[in-house]
Amino acid sequence: MSDFFTAGISDADPLVSNAIDAEVRRQTNGLELIASENFVSEAVLQTMGTVFTNKYAEGYPAKRYYGGCEFADVVENLAIDRAKEIFDAEHANVQPHSGAQANMAVLMTALDHGDTILGMNLSHGGHLTHGHPLNFSGINYKVADYGVRKDTEQIDYDELQNKAEESRPKLLICGASAYPRTIDFERIGEIARSVGAKVMADIAHIAGLVAAGLHPSPVPHCEFVTTTTHKTLRGPRGGLILCREEFAADVNRSVFPGVQGGPLIHIIAAKAVAFGEALKPEFKTYQQQIIDNAKVLAKTLADSGLRIVSGGTDNHLMLVDVFMDGKGITGKAAEKALDEVHITVNKNTIPFDTQKPFVASGIRIGTPALTTRGMKEPEMEAIGRMIAAIVHEPESEEVKARVRNEVLEITSRFPMYPGRLKPEQNEALTAN
Ligand SMILES: Cc1ncc(COP(=O)(O)O)c(C=O)c1O
Repeated sequence: MSDFFTAGISDADPLVSNAIDAEVRRQTNGLELIASENFVSEAVLQTMGTVFTNKYAEGYPAKRYYGGCEFADVVENLAIDRAKEIFDAEHANVQPHSGAQANMAVLMTALDHGDTILGMNLSHGGHLTHGHPLNFSGINYKVADYGVRKDTEQIDYDELQNKAEESRPKLLICGASAYPRTIDFERIGEIARSVGAKVMADIAHIAGLVAAGLHPSPVPHCEFVTTTTHKTLRGPRGGLILCREEFAADVNRSVFPGVQGGPLIHIIAAKAVAFGEALKPEFKTYQQQIIDNAKVLAKTLADSGLRIVSGGTDNHLMLVDVFMDGKGITGKAAEKALDEVHITVNKNTIPFDTQKPFVASGIRIGTPALTTRGMKEPEMEAIGRMIAAIVHEPESEEVKARVRNEVLEITSRFPMYPGRLKPEQNEALTAN
């Protein structure tokens, strides 16, 4: 047999292999607080790297354009059935390659070119695919937007009602990338019906909380629900669409052949595995811990003199105003200083920000990934104090050295992917 079928990545391609090893070490060695990221299980990781990547399966189970799809059908049906069970949905399409493509397929289903959408302003927490001028959603459709109130920094549902009456959208889009509060999907559904619009709820960020029953579900109130599968839901990178049976055929047609070709069966198989995990009781415990951790982290940051946008969090993330009207540092500077001590966050605009998006007054922090590692309230308090110390003294080498040691101490107590960390990397970790 040729090496082709036997050589592992370290022999076949040392350059890529070394980068993979370095990334394992980076993830293991650092504190991952990006709100949209998570660590998948070893089972999900293994499933992504299977021979299903070789298979073309255009179409849907039992209606494929290729032969040899019997096992592809097994995994796609498992993913569909589990997704429907998790969210109590009538129909699930598990083929979108990403959250953006799930949204594109729904917009294509619900709208004609030039129709009006009403989406949440990006700088108030919305997503590019909800109507940004450079995105397909802003290019192909007329866009109206809504946001949060200046005083509460929470969605202004009265303004939303007024905007809906003014703009008469065909589709109202809700859900967000950087919104720390519970979203009232029932109220949004009522607003949409009052103006004859349909609703797409994009629950990419909060899908795990919804799955666990810890955030109200949009499914009874919204015609279309989209999500990514890789954030709080803790699956492989990808998208998912849920809808009522009446829209099932149209949604399926919009995904394929509308916006995609062949489905990624290896990823769909991994979605099935992750959805199986989400149906287990431990998943609810995990999601509750994400929320508990976020509350403690937000409180610790606030107690340490940073301003938490909207005064707190109900979900897995918080927005921290580190600029504080010039008294602090920019989000960009905070992200960089935290990176230097292996704490990973992203700069983020805050509502009514005075800084440009690439500079920003805030940072967005989320707890899903560290909660997967097993960290709980005591670690969150310690991490909150570390973040505040860096933000208050971003230039101090002494503070940085101390925090680097504290990061190492915490991460070494919560190992991950032990089989994927090479022994010499382990040594490097403890010697660092
Ligand atoms: C609310 C929301 N929708 C959609 C997406 C897009 O997902 P993807 O990056 O998989 O295209 C994101 C990603 O951050 C998101 O936050």
